Amino acid sequence: MDILLLENIHQVAKTNLENAGFNVDLRKSAMNEDELISELKNYDAVGLRSKTKITPKVIEEAGNLLSICAFCIGTNQIHLNSANQRGIPVFNAPYSNTRSVAELVIAEIISLSRRLTHVSMLAHQGVWEKSATNAHEVRGKNLGIVGYGHIGSQVSVLAEAMGINVFYYDIVKKLPLGNATPCANLEELLEISDFVSFHVPETSSTKNMVTKEVIKQMKQGAYLINASRGSVVVIEDLVEALQSGKLRGAAVDVFPSEPKNNDEEFHSLLRGLDNVILTPHIGGSTEEAQEAIGMEVSESMIRFLNDGFTGGAVNFPVIECGKPQESARRVINVHKNVPGVISNVTKIVSSLGANIMYQNLNTDPNIGYLVMDVQAGYGPELSEQIAALDTSIKTRLL
Ligand code: NAI
Repeated sequence: MDILLLENIHQVAKTNLENAGFNVDLRKSAMNEDELISELKNYDAVGLRSKTKITPKVIEEAGNLLSICAFCIGTNQIHLNSANQRGIPVFNAPYSNTRSVAELVIAEIISLSRRLTHVSMLAHQGVWEKSATNAHEVRGKNLGIVGYGHIGSQVSVLAEAMGINVFYYDIVKKLPLGNATPCANLEELLEISDFVSFHVPETSSTKNMVTKEVIKQMKQGAYLINASRGSVVVIEDLVEALQSGKLRGAAVDVFPSEPKNNDEEFHSLLRGLDNVILTPHIGGSTEEAQEAIGMEVSESMIRFLNDGFTGGAVNFPVIECGKPQESARRVINVHKNVPGVISNVTKIVSSLGANIMYQNLNTDPNIGYLVMDVQAGYGPELSEQIAALDTSIKTRLL
């Protein structure tokens, strides 16, 4: 099979795919709609990052494309619904940069406590500000983590190792790691924490979650860290709290509006505040994370193309199947989710006299995904007849 990798995806992905027997075409840049329409016809799968937009038109024209893989976290550059309806699963890498974000947060907790970025900047300007005033150890302090998911729980483990007392609040009941203490609600967490770090997704409940009312409930002189989503914190309210001294400092990696590329100027009301660490949305941007993304997504690609495994797909019914037995052939069928499909498939199987060695079906409101193994000799005829059903969207024989 032929795979196109765009946008300078880490070399490890190419190597992994080639070792699995695929032909890989690795390109440095993104492609526009016209280029995608003319190129994708020649490939079985495409890998991209955030700049390549997969529109409904691209999907419509993409011929026999089997899978689209986002070598990043976000998938909003891909029209997921169109891909679903054309039987194309989309994979991404939700966890490969979890640790990178957690480490940045730990660095920020220490940096804020010791005013590192400020004194460093002064020293660069020739100012020798040797003083213990307002410099603190983090040991024994309370860290409140809002959103105890993948990143939040990693921050928890790392923080505890430095003697920090960890508290967390999540809308879902989560198992505490180590000695972390769950809080019944956000208020309880805010009242007790010297540092409050946000690790929530962008949802209607987290949009503008941090307002002046919320900040008011925090400890006098606490620190706020946001490396989640820019929409979570109302920047004007944060600025006011920092200027008034209610908050001693903040570290912000994500913003309501961010430059589209490195050539655009970054505008924020937080600029110029010496008690604020500003970073350009680099929480997950490490070479290790890029390599881990290359590995994670190319593995998803290989398992789907070779075995039909759709675990981790963001727009598709999940079937976590192993490899077919040696003596079997696997037929994979994506079909419209309408009554009678499985009964028609079963009729074909029995008319051929084939024996089903493995079968798994999963559905979503639009489509059904069927993975079926039969004795090798029956595979081609079975696949051909299933493909001919007018409910079939995509059928392939492995
Ligand atoms: P996750 O989905 O594993 O965890 C999020 C947690 O927040 C879940 O446990 C969820 O139940 C909880 N949650 C949702 N709404 C909540 C609410 N209203 N109050 C309290 N808890 C709530 O997500 P993960 O992987 O830990 O990512 C967290 C955030 O970090 C996301 O917003 C993601 O976009 C962001 N992120 C930022 C990066 C950066 O470069 N700065 C890189 C990677 C992720």
